[in-house]
Amino acid sequence: MYHPALFKGMNVVVTGAGRGIGLEVARQFLDCGARVLAHVGRTLSDVRPDFLDLAAGEGRAFLSAADFLAPGGVESLAEEVRSRFDRLDVLVNNAGTMVGRFPAADLTDDEYRTIVQLNQTSVVEMTRAMLPLLRKGTYPAIVNTVSISARSGGSAGSSIYSATKAFVAAYSKALARELAPEGIRVNCVSPGTITTDFHDRYSTPEKLEATRKSIPLGRLGTAEDCAPVYLFLASHALSGYVTGQVLEVNGGQLIA
Ligand SMILES: NC(=O)c1ccc[n+]([C@@H]2O[C@H](COP(=O)([O-])OP(=O)(O)OC[C@H]3O[C@@H](n4cnc5c(N)ncnc54)[C@H](OP(=O)(O)O)[C@@H]3O)[C@@H](O)[C@H]2O)c1
Repeated sequence: MYHPALFKGMNVVVTGAGRGIGLEVARQFLDCGARVLAHVGRTLSDVRPDFLDLAAGEGRAFLSAADFLAPGGVESLAEEVRSRFDRLDVLVNNAGTMVGRFPAADLTDDEYRTIVQLNQTSVVEMTRAMLPLLRKGTYPAIVNTVSISARSGGSAGSSIYSATKAFVAAYSKALARELAPEGIRVNCVSPGTITTDFHDRYSTPEKLEATRKSIPLGRLGTAEDCAPVYLFLASHALSGYVTGQVLEVNGGQLIA
Protein backbone atom coordinates (compact mmCIF):
# COMPACT_ATOMS: atom_id res chain seq x y z
CA MET A 1 0.00 0.00 0.00
CA TYR A 2 1.34 3.40 -1.00
CA HIS A 3 1.33 6.47 1.23
CA PRO A 4 -2.28 7.43 2.11
CA ALA A 5 -1.68 10.99 0.89
CA LEU A 6 0.02 10.06 -2.41
CA PHE A 7 -2.90 11.38 -4.48
CA LYS A 8 -4.33 13.85 -1.96
CA GLY A 9 -6.21 16.65 -3.71
CA MET A 10 -6.00 14.93 -7.09
CA ASN A 11 -8.90 14.22 -9.43
CA VAL A 12 -8.90 10.76 -10.97
CA VAL A 13 -11.22 9.10 -13.50
CA VAL A 14 -11.27 5.30 -13.76
CA THR A 15 -13.42 3.66 -16.44
CA GLY A 16 -14.75 0.14 -15.98
CA ALA A 17 -14.50 0.55 -12.20
CA GLY A 18 -17.63 -1.40 -11.27
CA ARG A 19 -15.77 -4.68 -10.89
CA GLY A 20 -12.54 -6.52 -11.58
CA ILE A 21 -9.31 -4.62 -12.12
CA GLY A 22 -10.93 -1.18 -12.40
CA LEU A 23 -12.77 -1.54 -9.09
CA GLU A 24 -9.53 -2.36 -7.26
CA VAL A 25 -7.73 0.52 -9.01
CA ALA A 26 -10.48 2.92 -7.87
CA ARG A 27 -10.26 1.52 -4.32
CA GLN A 28 -6.50 2.01 -4.13
CA PHE A 29 -6.69 5.59 -5.51
CA LEU A 30 -9.32 6.37 -2.85
CA ASP A 31 -7.10 4.80 -0.18
CA CYS A 32 -4.33 7.16 -1.30
CA GLY A 33 -6.43 10.31 -0.91
CA ALA A 34 -7.70 10.91 -4.46
CA ARG A 35 -11.15 12.13 -5.49
CA VAL A 36 -12.31 9.45 -7.90
CA LEU A 37 -14.97 9.53 -10.56
CA ALA A 38 -15.64 5.83 -10.96
CA HIS A 39 -17.29 4.85 -14.21
CA VAL A 40 -18.96 1.70 -12.93
CA GLY A 41 -19.86 0.25 -16.31
CA ARG A 42 -23.06 0.19 -18.33
CA THR A 43 -25.47 0.47 -15.43
CA LEU A 44 -25.49 1.79 -11.89
CA SER A 45 -26.51 -1.27 -9.89
CA ASP A 46 -27.89 -1.07 -6.35
CA VAL A 47 -25.37 -3.67 -5.22
CA ARG A 48 -21.99 -2.00 -4.73
CA PRO A 49 -19.00 -2.54 -2.48
CA ASP A 50 -19.39 -0.61 0.79
CA PHE A 51 -16.20 1.37 0.27
CA LEU A 52 -17.58 2.99 -2.89
CA ASP A 53 -20.84 4.02 -1.20
CA LEU A 54 -18.91 5.29 1.82
CA ALA A 55 -16.54 7.35 -0.33
CA ALA A 56 -19.48 8.65 -2.38
CA GLY A 57 -21.24 9.70 0.83
CA GLU A 58 -18.12 11.61 1.87
CA GLY A 59 -17.88 13.36 -1.51
CA ARG A 60 -14.61 11.56 -2.40
CA ALA A 61 -16.13 9.29 -5.03
CA PHE A 62 -18.60 10.02 -7.80
CA LEU A 63 -20.28 7.06 -9.45
CA SER A 64 -21.36 7.19 -13.05
CA ALA A 65 -22.66 4.73 -15.64
CA ALA A 66 -22.37 4.91 -19.43
CA ASP A 67 -22.59 2.32 -22.18
CA PHE A 68 -19.62 2.89 -24.49
CA LEU A 69 -21.43 0.95 -27.22
CA ALA A 70 -24.42 3.29 -27.22
CA PRO A 71 -24.38 6.40 -29.42
CA GLY A 72 -23.07 9.29 -27.31
CA GLY A 73 -22.14 6.90 -24.46
CA VAL A 74 -18.55 8.07 -24.02
CA GLU A 75 -19.55 11.73 -24.38
CA SER A 76 -22.16 11.35 -21.65
CA LEU A 77 -19.41 10.16 -19.27
CA ALA A 78 -17.14 13.01 -20.39
CA GLU A 79 -19.93 15.48 -19.63
CA GLU A 80 -20.33 13.96 -16.16
CA VAL A 81 -16.58 14.39 -15.52
CA ARG A 82 -16.74 18.05 -16.64
CA SER A 83 -19.64 18.64 -14.28
CA ARG A 84 -17.64 17.25 -11.31
CA PHE A 85 -14.05 18.35 -11.99
CA ASP A 86 -12.58 21.59 -13.29
CA ARG A 87 -9.26 19.82 -13.87
CA LEU A 88 -8.15 16.20 -14.19
CA ASP A 89 -4.87 14.76 -12.89
CA VAL A 90 -5.23 11.07 -13.82
CA LEU A 91 -7.25 9.30 -16.50
CA VAL A 92 -7.38 5.50 -16.39
CA ASN A 93 -8.96 4.04 -19.54
CA ASN A 94 -9.76 0.53 -18.37
CA ALA A 95 -13.30 -0.38 -19.52
CA GLY A 96 -13.28 -3.15 -22.06
CA THR A 97 -13.75 -6.83 -22.60
CA MET A 98 -13.30 -9.60 -25.12
CA VAL A 99 -17.04 -9.68 -25.94
CA GLY A 100 -16.69 -13.32 -27.05
CA ARG A 101 -14.43 -15.77 -28.84
CA PHE A 102 -15.02 -15.58 -32.56
CA PRO A 103 -13.34 -17.86 -35.12
CA ALA A 104 -11.98 -15.58 -37.86
CA ALA A 105 -14.15 -17.02 -40.64
CA ASP A 106 -17.39 -16.67 -38.67
CA LEU A 107 -16.88 -13.18 -37.28
CA THR A 108 -19.81 -10.93 -38.22
CA ASP A 109 -19.50 -7.22 -39.07
CA ASP A 110 -21.46 -6.45 -35.94
CA GLU A 111 -19.16 -8.45 -33.66
CA TYR A 112 -16.11 -6.83 -35.24
CA ARG A 113 -17.50 -3.31 -34.79
CA THR A 114 -18.53 -4.02 -31.19
CA ILE A 115 -15.08 -5.23 -30.13
CA VAL A 116 -13.35 -2.31 -31.86
CA GLN A 117 -15.77 0.34 -30.52
CA LEU A 118 -15.48 -0.88 -26.94
CA ASN A 119 -11.76 -1.61 -26.65
CA GLN A 120 -10.26 0.83 -29.12
CA THR A 121 -12.51 3.67 -30.27
CA SER A 122 -13.85 4.44 -26.80
CA VAL A 123 -10.27 4.95 -25.54
CA VAL A 124 -9.58 7.45 -28.32
CA GLU A 125 -12.89 9.23 -27.71
CA MET A 126 -12.45 9.42 -23.92
CA THR A 127 -8.84 10.58 -24.18
CA ARG A 128 -9.74 13.30 -26.70
CA ALA A 129 -12.63 14.47 -24.53
CA MET A 130 -10.48 14.61 -21.37
CA LEU A 131 -7.42 16.37 -22.80
CA PRO A 132 -8.66 19.92 -22.08
CA LEU A 133 -9.16 18.98 -18.41
CA LEU A 134 -5.88 17.04 -18.24
CA ARG A 135 -4.04 20.12 -19.54
CA LYS A 136 -5.20 21.93 -16.39
CA GLY A 137 -4.07 19.06 -14.11
CA THR A 138 -1.02 18.77 -11.86
CA TYR A 139 1.57 16.43 -13.39
CA PRO A 140 -1.20 14.81 -15.48
CA ALA A 141 -1.00 11.16 -16.41
CA ILE A 142 -2.97 8.77 -18.59
CA VAL A 143 -2.82 5.03 -17.84
CA ASN A 144 -4.44 2.68 -20.34
CA THR A 145 -5.26 -0.99 -19.82
CA VAL A 146 -3.97 -3.18 -22.63
CA SER A 147 -3.30 -6.92 -22.45
CA ILE A 148 -0.62 -9.57 -22.70
CA SER A 149 -2.45 -10.54 -25.91
CA ALA A 150 -1.35 -7.24 -27.51
CA ARG A 151 2.12 -8.83 -27.72
CA SER A 152 1.38 -12.55 -27.78
CA GLY A 153 -1.59 -12.33 -30.17
CA GLY A 154 -3.84 -14.01 -27.59
CA SER A 155 -5.56 -17.35 -27.89
CA ALA A 156 -8.02 -18.74 -30.43
CA GLY A 157 -11.01 -16.54 -31.17
CA SER A 158 -9.52 -13.39 -29.66
CA SER A 159 -7.77 -11.95 -32.72
CA ILE A 160 -9.75 -8.71 -32.97
CA TYR A 161 -9.69 -8.13 -29.20
CA SER A 162 -5.91 -8.68 -29.15
CA ALA A 163 -5.48 -6.32 -32.10
CA THR A 164 -7.48 -3.58 -30.36
CA LYS A 165 -5.19 -3.86 -27.33
CA ALA A 166 -2.15 -3.62 -29.62
CA PHE A 167 -3.75 -0.51 -31.14
CA VAL A 168 -4.14 1.08 -27.69
CA ALA A 169 -0.51 0.26 -26.82
CA ALA A 170 0.75 1.92 -30.03
CA TYR A 171 -1.67 4.85 -29.66
CA SER A 172 -0.39 5.38 -26.10
CA LYS A 173 3.24 5.42 -27.24
CA ALA A 174 2.49 7.98 -29.95
CA LEU A 175 0.49 10.11 -27.50
CA ALA A 176 3.31 9.94 -24.95
CA ARG A 177 5.64 11.59 -27.45
CA GLU A 178 3.01 14.11 -28.61
CA LEU A 179 1.98 15.18 -25.10
CA ALA A 180 5.39 15.11 -23.39
CA PRO A 181 6.08 18.79 -24.16
CA GLU A 182 2.93 19.62 -22.18
CA GLY A 183 4.06 17.46 -19.25
CA ILE A 184 1.37 14.80 -19.76
CA ARG A 185 2.69 11.26 -19.36
CA VAL A 186 1.02 8.29 -21.06
CA ASN A 187 1.67 4.66 -20.12
CA CYS A 188 -0.08 1.30 -20.20
CA VAL A 189 -0.63 -1.58 -17.81
CA SER A 190 -0.70 -4.93 -19.59
CA PRO A 191 -2.35 -7.59 -17.43
CA GLY A 192 -1.65 -11.27 -18.04
CA THR A 193 -4.31 -13.76 -16.92
CA ILE A 194 -6.16 -12.11 -14.07
CA THR A 195 -8.95 -13.84 -12.16
CA THR A 196 -11.93 -11.55 -12.68
CA ASP A 197 -15.38 -12.07 -14.21
CA PHE A 198 -13.59 -11.70 -17.55
CA HIS A 199 -12.24 -15.26 -17.52
CA ASP A 200 -15.41 -16.67 -15.94
CA ARG A 201 -17.01 -15.62 -19.22
CA TYR A 202 -14.33 -16.42 -21.79
CA SER A 203 -12.11 -19.25 -20.46
CA THR A 204 -12.84 -22.75 -19.23
CA PRO A 205 -11.39 -23.94 -15.88
CA GLU A 206 -9.20 -26.38 -17.87
CA LYS A 207 -7.79 -23.57 -20.01
CA LEU A 208 -7.08 -21.48 -16.91
CA GLU A 209 -5.35 -24.40 -15.18
CA ALA A 210 -3.16 -25.00 -18.24
CA THR A 211 -2.28 -21.30 -18.26
CA ARG A 212 -1.50 -21.36 -14.54
CA LYS A 213 0.98 -24.18 -15.07
CA SER A 214 2.77 -22.11 -17.71
CA ILE A 215 3.28 -19.10 -15.42
CA PRO A 216 6.73 -18.97 -13.78
CA LEU A 217 5.31 -17.54 -10.53
CA GLY A 218 2.91 -20.52 -10.45
CA ARG A 219 -0.42 -18.74 -10.10
CA LEU A 220 -2.93 -16.63 -11.99
CA GLY A 221 -2.96 -12.90 -11.23
CA THR A 222 -5.44 -10.88 -9.21
CA ALA A 223 -6.81 -7.35 -9.45
CA GLU A 224 -4.76 -6.62 -6.30
CA ASP A 225 -1.60 -7.59 -8.22
CA CYS A 226 -2.48 -5.10 -10.98
CA ALA A 227 -3.77 -2.01 -9.17
CA PRO A 228 -0.48 -0.80 -7.59
CA VAL A 229 1.06 -0.68 -11.06
CA TYR A 230 -1.62 1.79 -12.20
CA LEU A 231 -0.93 3.97 -9.16
CA PHE A 232 2.81 3.76 -9.79
CA LEU A 233 2.40 4.91 -13.40
CA ALA A 234 -0.05 7.66 -12.39
CA SER A 235 2.21 9.15 -9.72
CA HIS A 236 4.69 11.85 -10.69
CA ALA A 237 6.60 11.15 -7.46
CA LEU A 238 7.01 7.45 -8.30
CA SER A 239 7.33 7.43 -12.10
CA GLY A 240 7.79 11.04 -13.23
CA TYR A 241 10.48 10.06 -15.75
CA VAL A 242 8.48 7.15 -17.23
CA THR A 243 6.35 7.71 -20.33
CA GLY A 244 5.40 5.75 -23.43
CA GLN A 245 5.87 2.41 -21.65
CA VAL A 246 3.83 -0.76 -21.37
CA LEU A 247 4.28 -2.46 -18.01
CA GLU A 248 3.56 -6.18 -18.14
CA VAL A 249 1.89 -7.66 -15.02
CA ASN A 250 1.75 -11.38 -15.65
CA GLY A 251 3.81 -13.43 -13.18
CA GLY A 252 6.38 -14.04 -15.90
CA GLN A 253 3.83 -15.49 -18.37
CA LEU A 254 5.52 -13.37 -21.05
CA ILE A 255 9.20 -12.64 -20.68
CA ALA A 256 10.65 -10.94 -23.75
N1 LIG B 1 -8.88 -10.25 -16.65
C1 LIG B 1 -7.85 -10.43 -17.44
O1 LIG B 1 -7.20 -11.47 -17.45
C2 LIG B 1 -7.42 -9.32 -18.37
C3 LIG B 1 -6.21 -9.51 -19.07
C4 LIG B 1 -5.77 -8.51 -19.91
C5 LIG B 1 -6.49 -7.34 -20.05
N2 LIG B 1 -7.67 -7.18 -19.38
C6 LIG B 1 -8.38 -5.93 -19.55
O2 LIG B 1 -8.55 -5.33 -18.28
C7 LIG B 1 -9.69 -4.49 -18.30
C8 LIG B 1 -10.59 -4.82 -17.12
O3 LIG B 1 -10.97 -6.17 -17.25
P1 LIG B 1 -11.48 -7.06 -16.03
O4 LIG B 1 -10.77 -8.33 -16.07
O5 LIG B 1 -11.50 -6.26 -14.79
O6 LIG B 1 -12.93 -7.37 -16.62
P2 LIG B 1 -14.39 -7.19 -16.10
O7 LIG B 1 -14.43 -7.67 -14.67
O8 LIG B 1 -15.20 -7.85 -17.12
O9 LIG B 1 -14.62 -5.60 -16.13
C9 LIG B 1 -14.76 -4.93 -17.35
C10 LIG B 1 -15.28 -3.52 -17.08
O10 LIG B 1 -15.54 -2.90 -18.36
C11 LIG B 1 -16.89 -2.46 -18.37
N3 LIG B 1 -17.58 -2.56 -19.67
C12 LIG B 1 -17.82 -3.67 -20.39
N4 LIG B 1 -18.59 -3.38 -21.46
C13 LIG B 1 -18.85 -2.04 -21.39
C14 LIG B 1 -19.59 -1.14 -22.18
N5 LIG B 1 -20.26 -1.54 -23.27
N6 LIG B 1 -19.63 0.16 -21.82
C15 LIG B 1 -18.99 0.59 -20.72
N7 LIG B 1 -18.27 -0.22 -19.91
C16 LIG B 1 -18.20 -1.52 -20.25
C17 LIG B 1 -17.61 -3.42 -17.42
O11 LIG B 1 -18.86 -2.88 -17.03
P3 LIG B 1 -20.19 -3.83 -16.97
O12 LIG B 1 -20.27 -4.25 -15.54
O13 LIG B 1 -21.31 -2.93 -17.42
O14 LIG B 1 -19.97 -4.98 -17.90
C18 LIG B 1 -16.58 -3.54 -16.30
O15 LIG B 1 -16.67 -2.46 -15.43
C19 LIG B 1 -10.35 -4.69 -19.66
O16 LIG B 1 -9.94 -3.64 -20.53
C20 LIG B 1 -9.77 -6.01 -20.14
O17 LIG B 1 -9.76 -6.11 -21.53
C21 LIG B 1 -8.14 -8.15 -18.53
